[in-house]
Amino acid sequence: MIDREGIFTGDDPFGIARRWLEEATPLEPSDPNAAALASVDDDGMPDVRIVLIKDIEHDGFVFFTNYNSRKGQEIANSGKAALNIHWKSLARQIRVRGHIERLSAAESDEYYASRPLGSRIGAWASAQSEPLAKKSDLLEAVQTAEAKHGRFPRRPTHWGGFKITPTEIEFWSAGEFRLHDRFRWSSISGCDKWEITRLNP
Ligand SMILES: Cc1cc2nc3c(=O)[nH]c(=O)nc-3n(C[C@H](O)[C@H](O)[C@H](O)COP(=O)(O)O)c2cc1C
Repeated sequence: MIDREGIFTGDDPFGIARRWLEEATPLEPSDPNAAALASVDDDGMPDVRIVLIKDIEHDGFVFFTNYNSRKGQEIANSGKAALNIHWKSLARQIRVRGHIERLSAAESDEYYASRPLGSRIGAWASAQSEPLAKKSDLLEAVQTAEAKHGRFPRRPTHWGGFKITPTEIEFWSAGEFRLHDRFRWSSISGCDKWEITRLNP
């Protein structure tokens, strides 16, 4: 029997993750949903950047991006990714690794429609991760996209959501003298059955 109590209690790791995010939200100065997203290229060379977690569903962590970006291509090729959310205010982190897939077009459409117009236009104007000779070229691309798509742009097919479905989730909380608490949830059967292991800090 594992001595898993207090902030670690719960039978559903996604529920715990949502609870921790809720606790961090009033404490973080900005972007409490920011997560480092790791992917690898075809040579196994890793890369990492921040994205915003927009939803924690019953089976995964959702974020939105440009599918043609470097991360978009790496994710498409490997089908795997990892996330790390660190809250300095709580001295906690959550680590996630698993399989990653695009959200359905309908789900991406719904989120895209909820964004401010400027962000919707930006998704058309920015060829994310591609070289940009000068900033004014981007601003011109914004004007061109505004002229072309008007006030109700449809979602570009190259922009949308991804969901990471974890094979492992680890909850970490800082302890005195570096005697931190760590619990790793390893999937036994999808997102319903987990083996939970306390780890040395
Ligand atoms: C706080 C913060 C939030 C960000 N959120 C996102 C995001 O949700 N989606 C995204 O595509 N890029 C986001 N970015 C930009 C990425 O970190 C990155 O620069 C960009 O996606 C290009 O990455 P890539 O070239 O590896 O594909 C964010 C950056 C920061 C600092």
